[in-house]
Amino acid sequence: MEKELKKKFAELFDKQDGDSYFSPGRINLIGEHTDYNGGHVFPAAITLGTYGIASKRKDNRIRLYSENFKDSGVIEFSMEDLSYSRAHNWANYPKGVVKYLIEAGYNITSGVDILFYGTIPNGAGLSSSASIELLTGVILNDLFKLEVPTLELIEIGKKVENSFIGVNSGIMDQFAVGMGKKNQAILLDTSSLKYEMVPADFGEYVVVIMNTNKRRELADSKYNERRSECEEALHLLQKKVSIASLGELNEASFERYLHLIGNPTLIKRARHAVTENQRTLKAKEALTEGNLMEFGKLLNDSHSSLKQDYEVTGIELDTLVSCAQRQPGVLGARMTGAGFGGCSIALVKESELDAFIQVVGENYQEKIGYPADFYKAYIAEGARKLS
Ligand code: GLA
Repeated sequence: MEKELKKKFAELFDKQDGDSYFSPGRINLIGEHTDYNGGHVFPAAITLGTYGIASKRKDNRIRLYSENFKDSGVIEFSMEDLSYSRAHNWANYPKGVVKYLIEAGYNITSGVDILFYGTIPNGAGLSSSASIELLTGVILNDLFKLEVPTLELIEIGKKVENSFIGVNSGIMDQFAVGMGKKNQAILLDTSSLKYEMVPADFGEYVVVIMNTNKRRELADSKYNERRSECEEALHLLQKKVSIASLGELNEASFERYLHLIGNPTLIKRARHAVTENQRTLKAKEALTEGNLMEFGKLLNDSHSSLKQDYEVTGIELDTLVSCAQRQPGVLGARMTGAGFGGCSIALVKESELDAFIQVVGENYQEKIGYPADFYKAYIAEGARKLS
């Protein structure tokens, strides 16, 4: 793969000196829509991701090309104008990273040429954008010896989403992509950014990614709306209760205070944030103890809460997940990521995998009218230089 990409890079940019880098995508095992509510998340980096071949230039031009958006050709701009541009499409992600690294005081002394190639299905909710952001960060860090700490690259990636692209997302995706370790899931407390690596040992079970193939566009979705609903609920609680985030409540304290929220929709949104955070902590315990039955049950409960209280699933995700949950050898299934399409995951006994894919795939095709895709998830290292 690397060899072919280097060849392409040489042809495209008329130079031979490209270095290779790779940045993963992520799945989230559990802890959905908790990262902007001061709760816990439990994601892991995966082997699907984005390759980058890059080298410095002598002038101050930035030239970017993606094998996934061949029709857009090479997107070129000067380091003097790093403003968001609609016409630059996907290239706004790397562009934003360059902008914020410079703003943070890092000395990027020249332009760069970068070729990107992503193996993450586009729009699948496996964080292709965080993957590109961290990839760009790691490339610039390496080429210009900037010595940016990984956590700062993660925060810059998040800032690109929030301030450059306009999605009010939390820190989970960039954190998982930046910090991922092979066969480890990351339990991250988003209120303190303290984290713990947890062996992702599923014994005779595997995590299967099920892609609805319904594209999800974060910015277009109701993502920002959900976030403001949670903020509104928090605000109402804070009039009487001294808490900094919904993540500080547990089921019992939430029940005690929910009358302060009043509005039924806001109560549902906040209830999800609270219960999901508690489930995430329980799931981490269950996985550590090797109690996969309990872990699977928590995955199922998470999906129900995302469906009923948070209302971010939709017919495609629900069809995949409910069918998956009924199959032999399945311990649990849930949507992963922001929702509204994208991917779900299931914990499936490896010996049942072929039958599982067959049955769930046929059921989906029949009900939805187009096929789903299935991939085994391999939990992998975070963004890094390859060569
Ligand atoms: C998207 C966001 C994350 C997180 C998830 C939902 O992936 O980028 O920050 O909020 O949705 O858990």
